[in-house]
Amino acid sequence: MRRLNLELKLAPILLLLICATITTKAFATEDGYKKCELTVKKWAFSSHDSEIKDDKHALRDLLFFLHVPRTGGRTYFHCFLKKLYANAQECPRSYDKLRFNPRKSNCRLLSTHDDYSMMVKLPKEQTSVVTILRNPIDRVFSTYEFSVEVAARFLIHRDLISLSRMAKRARMKAGGVSTLDIWPWKYLVPWMREDLFARRDDRISKGQSYITSNDSYDMEEILMPLRDYINDPIARDIIHNGATFQIAGLTNNSYIAESHEVRHCVLKYQSLGQYVLEVVKKRLDSMLYVGLTENHRESATLFANLVGAQVVAQLTKSSSSSDSAIDNGSEQKSLLPNSTSDANHQENNAYRKLKKVSSASKDEAANINMDAGKLMEAYESCISSLRSSQSERRAKSLKRISPANFTKEARRKVPELLLQEITSLNSLDMQLYSYAQDIFAKQQAEYHVL
Ligand SMILES: *[C@@H]1O[C@H](CO)[C@@H](O)[C@H](O)[C@H]1NC(C)=O
Ligand SMILES: *[C@@H]1O[C@H](CO)[C@@H](O)[C@H](O)[C@H]1NC(C)=O
Ligand SMILES: *[C@@H]1O[C@H](CO)[C@@H](O)[C@H](O)[C@H]1NC(C)=O
Ligand SMILES: *[C@@H]1O[C@H](CO)[C@@H](O)[C@H](O)[C@H]1NC(C)=O
Ligand SMILES: *[C@@H]1O[C@H](CO)[C@@H](O)[C@H](O)[C@H]1NC(C)=O
Repeated sequence: MRRLNLELKLAPILLLLICATITTKAFATEDGYKKCELTVKKWAFSSHDSEIKDDKHALRDLLFFLHVPRTGGRTYFHCFLKKLYANAQECPRSYDKLRFNPRKSNCRLLSTHDDYSMMVKLPKEQTSVVTILRNPIDRVFSTYEFSVEVAARFLIHRDLISLSRMAKRARMKAGGVSTLDIWPWKYLVPWMREDLFARRDDRISKGQSYITSNDSYDMEEILMPLRDYINDPIARDIIHNGATFQIAGLTNNSYIAESHEVRHCVLKYQSLGQYVLEVVKKRLDSMLYVGLTENHRESATLFANLVGAQVVAQLTKSSSSSDSAIDNGSEQKSLLPNSTSDANHQENNAYRKLKKVSSASKDEAANINMDAGKLMEAYESCISSLRSSQSERRAKSLKRISPANFTKEARRKVPELLLQEITSLNSLDMQLYSYAQDIFAKQQAEYHVL
């Protein structure tokens, strides 16, 4: 009886205490929100670029290809840009942040998964930016599949060869940079690889050989289900809204220290994402070119016309002082001091051909059209071989995780609910993609291509 009494007496005090804790907590979150809002607003204010004076459609000295992962940018890089620019004109180790130093060389082309914060290292006034965007749902699927594909490639000799040694080997094979050096894969692949090993060990220890599901995106005996992947904190930090964060310069890989605080605020308070989106939309507006993965042919054609032809014109102009020397292989001396190796000569062949085309005609416009046409021809044959080698590699790698296989049929079985979840996790990218579609339509109307 006494005890109950005491408890009754204490009850209001306890209640008061609880209330006090809740209010302090509410104030604290309010405080946290206010602080974050200030941080994000400050960032947004300082990030709005000053008015662009020159024509954004004119190619400047340096071309910065902001390559959002899994948008198909590799084909543009290999089948357009690599054919136009010589090796020596490519900014060294473009995909390898640690060794990147654009000021040290005369580079004209920078292609990277690093984010827009890279601009702090570049001569901003002399840089044109291009990018390609993709439907966010497909980009997430592709990110998952590629994580698995690359991880499965390294699913051998767990104890014999460490991942860093495998990276070294891959680096040697690839002539410089391995996927394992490149953000975001340097985080996503080891994570997936560890997970694949753990599941394999688990199967072995349980003596289990049966698989309870026939949905490759949800086959937990073999690999991390898609639903777990997209809900992991790692995915929240580096996959979702990845295009928005990359163009904002706010990725987990940013060069600017304050970026991380801004990103954490946006991840914590979703509504603050709108400030970021506004900055990013303006940046897209001022880009030389914005492509869409989904409209591949139209995008490539536009790229050839808008970017490729200008690159040819620019390089032709740069080396016009030695125009008479087209066929003696030395015409690039002024541009490419180190281009005497055989490899460079081969690289420059396409450029040389294009140059001939462009110097043969007096009419600039006709010139540009012709260059774009030639470029597209070269592009088409290049992508078909690139694609077949890519799909061969993928098939070989996915064999290691059979019966899981990422086919179109498997994709169709993915529940609608999961797709909705991806959509909501990528709400900024969804809005950005729709904005990019408008820009793309405008670009096309403006250039009357196709
Ligand atoms: C495999 O999928 C089909 C439908 O696509 C279903 O009818 C069948 O029961 C599934 N089998 C297993 C083992 O889950
Ligand atoms: C980026 O993300 C990875 C994976 O979550 C993490 O290991 C790394 O520390 C992060 N870097 C920064 C700067 O947040
Ligand atoms: C080759 O280039 C040099 C200058 O680099 C020039 O003097 C020479 O005439 C060129 N030869 C031919 C055959 O064009
Ligand atoms: C050419 O390459 C060598 C070594 O790769 C380097 O030391 C030299 O500075 C380069 N020359 C120019 C003009 O860039
Ligand atoms: C996976 O699917 C592709 C396309 O349907 C097929 O060509 C390949 O053989 C399959 N791989 C395995 C290991 O079943």
